[in-house]
Amino acid sequence: MSFAFESADNFWLYVCAPVLVAFISLPIMRLFSSKNHFPVNGRTVVITGGSQGMGRALGKLLAQKGANVFIVARDVGKLEAAVEYISAAAQDPQSQRFHYISADLTHSSENIRIIDEITTWNNGSPPDVVWANAGMSTPQLFIETPIETLRSQMEINYWAATYLAHATLKKWLQPLISPPSSSDTKATITSSSSPSLPRHFIFTGSSVCYVGVAGYAPYAPAKAAMRSLCDTLRSELNLYTGAIASARKSSPSSSSASSIPPEIKIHTITPGTISTPGNLYENKSKHPITHILEEGDPVQSEDEVARVAIKALEKGHYLASTQFLGEAMRVSALGGSPRNGVVGVRDVLFGWVCAVAWLVVGPDMERKVWRWGFEHGVEGKAGTA
Ligand SMILES: NC(=O)c1ccc[n+]([C@@H]2O[C@H](COP(=O)([O-])OP(=O)(O)OC[C@H]3O[C@@H](n4cnc5c(N)ncnc54)[C@H](OP(=O)(O)O)[C@@H]3O)[C@@H](O)[C@H]2O)c1
Ligand SMILES: *[C@@H]1O[C@H](CO)[C@@H](O)[C@H](O)[C@H]1NC(C)=O
Repeated sequence: MSFAFESADNFWLYVCAPVLVAFISLPIMRLFSSKNHFPVNGRTVVITGGSQGMGRALGKLLAQKGANVFIVARDVGKLEAAVEYISAAAQDPQSQRFHYISADLTHSSENIRIIDEITTWNNGSPPDVVWANAGMSTPQLFIETPIETLRSQMEINYWAATYLAHATLKKWLQPLISPPSSSDTKATITSSSSPSLPRHFIFTGSSVCYVGVAGYAPYAPAKAAMRSLCDTLRSELNLYTGAIASARKSSPSSSSASSIPPEIKIHTITPGTISTPGNLYENKSKHPITHILEEGDPVQSEDEVARVAIKALEKGHYLASTQFLGEAMRVSALGGSPRNGVVGVRDVLFGWVCAVAWLVVGPDMERKVWRWGFEHGVEGKAGTA
């Protein structure tokens, strides 16, 4: 009897008490973390794939928050219509500016060109926020997918974002690599319109980068590679942040300090299903088993996804999904990525719960795929469900 009490006490002391303390301290700590980590008012934002779907909704919401918005896609007609749609949402139509460039982002040189042209359009300052959002999915069973499609999916979903990150980070960090002399006119070209605020580079990933889902072999690996690039760049950017801090410390005079670039923050947003033109297109080639595996996934509107994504950035999150299931997938697959929430406690606790839930969900997903093969054979093409 007394032994049982003792062990219950120990359980309370070592397991429940720390969890309880964490929960009680959360609201208190939140008071200190209400800062907006993603201010856009008066700043210039570039959104690729901004002519429709999620990108267009991001443009609208950022326009409402006072940003200058520049969108990039291929089709000029859609771009013009989207600029009209986005600019109609401007907080201050007198001062905010809106524009587009038509470019195929699967060419690396086009990514360099757009960053150069936007810098010129932005009165010589590079954009403050660059969002690599263009992407598209053609889900299919792996062996039914032509090799050409496997490659082109990588081109638009991984390489286009990588080219853009490369062009943008080079532009942003150039003053550190070759500091302009005081007589050099490049000083104004590379300096920022808001030197004290960090710049942001954001990837649009997908929740399929966390969990293997039959039918997404052409697409998911590209988004997983994108997430790996983001994690790697997050680590690498500390090098530049350190150098920036050191340069600021040793150049107190404002003239030389103006050539020191702002810090850079990097993020990935991983939505689930969004009802966009892209999703309609993706549904056409999607195998019935993929539809079955996604059944529980809520369909979000593009405006809802934009709202949640920007809220996550405002909270300073590095990696974020846009709905509950996506968050469960994220916390189950964090690896070395930073945890969100005050000192990461929420993600850690949520991850523990999900680790247990996955003991049921994982095998259930496997069984569903097996059962489809058992009942329908390998012939189940899209549309036969
Ligand atoms: N919809 C979903 O269910 C879902 C779920 C998770 C993640 N995502 C991701 O979220 C992002 C946006 O998805 P969405 O559904 O909103 O997209 P969407 O409706 O298919 O729109 C794609 C946008 O990208 C542009 N684009 C496509 N290929 C391009 C290229 N080679 N060069 C330049 N621009 C190109 C398109 O314009 P043009 O065709 O005129 O170039 C369009 O503006 C994508 O990265 C997607 O992978 C979507
Ligand atoms: C695509 O199919 C799913 C069913 O799996 C559906 O819920 C979704 O609304 C469809 N998307 C569009 C844009 O119609």
